[in-house]
Amino acid sequence: MLAALFDDIKYLLRARNNVVAMWPKSYYRKEFITVRYPTRQMFIVNSPAGVQHVMVSNDKNYRKSPVNSQTLKPLLGNGLFVSNGELWARQRKVASPSTHGSRLPDYAATIIACGEEMIAELRAAPEGQVVDVTEPFTLVTAEIISQLMFGYPLKERGQVMYEAFKEYSASHGRVHIFEFLGLPTWLPRPGGWRGRRAVKRFDSVLLDFLKAGRTRDPQASPTLLEMLIQYRDPQGQPMAPNLIRDEMASIFLAGHETTALTLGWAFYSLSQHPEAEKRVHEEIDRVVGDRPIRFEDVPQLTYSRAVVDETLRLYPPVHIFSREAIEDDEICGNRVPAGSYITIASWLLHRHEKYWEEPKAFRPERFLPPEVQKVQQFAYIPFGTGSRVCMGKHLGLLEATLLFAMVAQSFRLRVPEGAVIEPLGRMTLRPTPGMSLRIERRR
Ligand code: HEM
Repeated sequence: MLAALFDDIKYLLRARNNVVAMWPKSYYRKEFITVRYPTRQMFIVNSPAGVQHVMVSNDKNYRKSPVNSQTLKPLLGNGLFVSNGELWARQRKVASPSTHGSRLPDYAATIIACGEEMIAELRAAPEGQVVDVTEPFTLVTAEIISQLMFGYPLKERGQVMYEAFKEYSASHGRVHIFEFLGLPTWLPRPGGWRGRRAVKRFDSVLLDFLKAGRTRDPQASPTLLEMLIQYRDPQGQPMAPNLIRDEMASIFLAGHETTALTLGWAFYSLSQHPEAEKRVHEEIDRVVGDRPIRFEDVPQLTYSRAVVDETLRLYPPVHIFSREAIEDDEICGNRVPAGSYITIASWLLHRHEKYWEEPKAFRPERFLPPEVQKVQQFAYIPFGTGSRVCMGKHLGLLEATLLFAMVAQSFRLRVPEGAVIEPLGRMTLRPTPGMSLRIERRR
């Protein structure tokens, strides 16, 4: 008994370093796995039926768990990504119109303008230069989310945010063992001061925008920031400034790093699959050619979009979902006591041997007709599903497809000979030691 417990703790310590590297081979076949913690049990739900149960049909019984939230709370406070219950429901309702489909054509114009600036900067680098593309991809997606959601450009403040987030990830990027052990949240976690310094730097930008408030064109559709500022509850009270700040931090974070990582992994995958790269280039040359890309091109960029979909399958930026059971429940015939932690690992599910043919192969074709019909709804959840599904799903897909096509129109990105890039499962799925790619011009 003690030896088994010891093994589980060793496993958890390894998991902190790189969650995706330590999943045992058998987990890619299993549908329900039990891991014992000293204070409670954790269940890994690893089947479409289980995902549907936890995230859709009985989602009221599952809240975001401290395992995940504690790493994010110092930065996101009570923001949408981590909040629960009535607060979450209200905030989601207030914020949702900012990502409504009707706004996408306007948003595309901003995405394209910011993308063009990034391309111009990449063009300025000498031919064949090796660049860690995580930085330009993160800076461009941060610029886009700031302009779209707050109505303000980040410009040089983008670098401040980028560095601050890097510092935050270094101190809080790994789930703390205290969370796995179920220790109370009031116990201080080591490394907190670095995280606090990063949050201060982050806030120096967000609070500037919040103070500047509504200096924009009153005729324009309101930004998310304006919606939050204008909100009044049934008693006529405005939203607390702290909560507005938390929502700004949440949307900023949820809305840019994920898209940047997707782009990096998409070009990494293309460089490993020349056939797919050829098809992408043929499609872009046929649909867009040498002219600037337009929103109207997106429906015709079907193969490029399939590359994005397949990248999100093999490298889902949010590779793990953590929930806590509120009441006793049963998931696919397994008893789940109240208080248990539930993990849904999209990394495992997206590579599950039962639900995918050649699960490890990069084959964008699986997301094109007729094959796409074989994709099971709850076996593919890069944006989550159910009530907590990503609020920016359609925006994220539009942005990833447009930026992907723009970069592929201009450049071919190559993994330098001998370099090894691997996925590192932390708060998000990052490339390690980075996504350094050689940039060759196509036109
Ligand atoms: C490729 C890009 C993106 C990916 C892969 C992604 C993925 C996800 C996932 C998996 C979740 C659910 C987490 C959970 O259930 O625990 C989520 C939530 C969320 N995402 Fe995204 N996201 C992306 C882009 C965006 C964008 C562009 C925005 C901004 C507008 C955004 C805003 C949010 C918000 C606010 C939530 C929390 C929703 C809630 O809990 O109600 N995301 N995202």
